[in-house]
Amino acid sequence: PTTAPSQCTLPAAVASLPTNQNHASNSKLKRRCYQGVWVREEWAPGIMAMQRSFAARPGDVVLASVPKSGTTWLKALTFATMARAACPPASPAHPLRRLNPHDCVPLVDRLFAVGRDAVLDALPSPRLMCTHMPLSVLPPSISGGPHCKIVYICRDPKDMVVSLWHFVNRAQPDISLQEMFETVCEGTSNGGPFWDHILGYWRASNAEPSRVLFLTYEQMLQDPLDKVRKLAQFLGRPFSDTEEEAGVVAEIVQLCSLENLKNLEANKKGSQGVFFKFSHDSYFRNGVVGDWVNHLTPEMAKRLDAICKEKFRGSGFTF
Ligand code: A3P
Repeated sequence: PTTAPSQCTLPAAVASLPTNQNHASNSKLKRRCYQGVWVREEWAPGIMAMQRSFAARPGDVVLASVPKSGTTWLKALTFATMARAACPPASPAHPLRRLNPHDCVPLVDRLFAVGRDAVLDALPSPRLMCTHMPLSVLPPSISGGPHCKIVYICRDPKDMVVSLWHFVNRAQPDISLQEMFETVCEGTSNGGPFWDHILGYWRASNAEPSRVLFLTYEQMLQDPLDKVRKLAQFLGRPFSDTEEEAGVVAEIVQLCSLENLKNLEANKKGSQGVFFKFSHDSYFRNGVVGDWVNHLTPEMAKRLDAICKEKFRGSGFTF
């Protein structure tokens, strides 16, 4: 069992951090700005502890994303790709057929936030882990160390904010889409600003393509087979001719498809989370590109597009 630190035990190092004044009255969206990154107040001590004590090992793989950018899918695909020798994707006993992908790939930020980081030490190598934090606040052994490979996924922020609202709404129904949208635009959503989050990994992937793989949700949806091959190649485990002939890539894609995962018992029941409980099924919605048209006004879309245009100008990155 995990225990969430209560507000009254907030360490002084966190209590003195800037807070998002606009939403200070709504503690449910309360964020603190730590080293230029907006983090949920309850998570801030964990981020500090992670910086101090996490040490990457040779072979570590860290998946990174802004929440609601396709993390669950990337976790499933990477887990299935890395484990395919011991756990063939077509096997009825595959762990992903009985466990939620978040139970297969731990969120480092959360484990540190609840003081359960020893779980990471106990994992056998090569470890597969996940973070929602930007590169700039990750422990140096992840962000700059030679040991660790990073796979990043991002998504058109218009779809990301709609997905985020649907997700958070399940646990906190009093948060409006407008309110969520404002936090994303002002950069104070968890791990934000989202543009810095994306640019940090984008630049790192350009500087060190063998260490940081940069993917988008849209590209993954367009050609999942190609992206899984790229992923395997990047991880130093390319598919052999025999595997290609046996259709292993397609089996991984099928195993990890939204339709398949969504309909598994493990993902229809149970929940994740400590500070808030998120039901397993809330990680699987419709998984399409452009669902934002059903939720955002043209003005909202224009505003987010303009933010992206301005922030990504000159970076070579565009959605
Ligand atoms: P929607 O809310 O737009 O449907 P994250 O995993 O980062 O929390 O992101 C959740 C989003 O990814 C949701 O988007 C969800 O439906 C989608 N998703 C989850 N599993 C998926 C899968 N296996 N394939 C494609 N999309 C998936």
